[in-house]
Amino acid sequence: MIYIKSSAEIAKMKVSGRIVYETLCEVEKHIKAGITTKELDQIAKEYILSQGAKPSFLGYNGYPASICASVNEGVIHGIPSRRKLKDGDIISIDVGAVKDGYHGDAARTFAVGNISPEAKRLIDVTKQSFFEGLKYARHGERLGSIQATIQSYVESNGFGIVRNYCGHGIGKEMHESPEIPNYGTFGRGIRLAKGMTIAVEPMVNYGDYRTTVLDDEWTVVSLDGSLTAHYENTILITDGEPVLLTDY
Ligand code: MF3
Ligand code: CO
Repeated sequence: MIYIKSSAEIAKMKVSGRIVYETLCEVEKHIKAGITTKELDQIAKEYILSQGAKPSFLGYNGYPASICASVNEGVIHGIPSRRKLKDGDIISIDVGAVKDGYHGDAARTFAVGNISPEAKRLIDVTKQSFFEGLKYARHGERLGSIQATIQSYVESNGFGIVRNYCGHGIGKEMHESPEIPNYGTFGRGIRLAKGMTIAVEPMVNYGDYRTTVLDDEWTVVSLDGSLTAHYENTILITDGEPVLLTDY
């Protein structure tokens, strides 16, 4: 069941989406060599709470933090720790917040100091793959067109598109129907409609697309240990241009 949001619900999703965006901005300001991922988690948590919202990841299936902080070969679900960031690292930050019963969810990959040209290209291609897919985030288009466009953009750049984890519908729940893999068939799948809210989130490995989970049972890393990047926004489908609820 895919929920179509009313204008009152959309107004609430705009509020939670903006809080997620602002949290990412707060965290970004503090990203530099020497800071720990736990400190970044604390900054995010305090900001979300200061806005009268709740960090939606905290306690989700037992997840122990407010953000996911995934460094270098870390794809998603990196648990904040006492690990210090180093110059040249890349770090994916994923944030979720819920306010007045509605969720926002977004992720970015940031550079720590000076990064390699390869890492920069990975981050840029990952972000651009989202925007290529977004061209089909329109009333009447098929979901598979977003998925296939992301996949072909990533693969034509020589990178691996992660298949084990997906984007998703979002609203009253962080994860609603439909599931949105970052691969698929152009012109297939459900038809998008005005009032749907979806989180599209390409995860891109520099090398092979496969992943594995560490012994902490959360941290997802690239199987070959290659660098990896993530880019996610919560999107509102309208009868015209899509609206990014977590980007301003
Ligand atoms: N942001 C993730 C997603 O898009 C969810 C994080 S999982 C959690 O699905 F356990 F950390 F909450
Ligand atoms: Co998500």
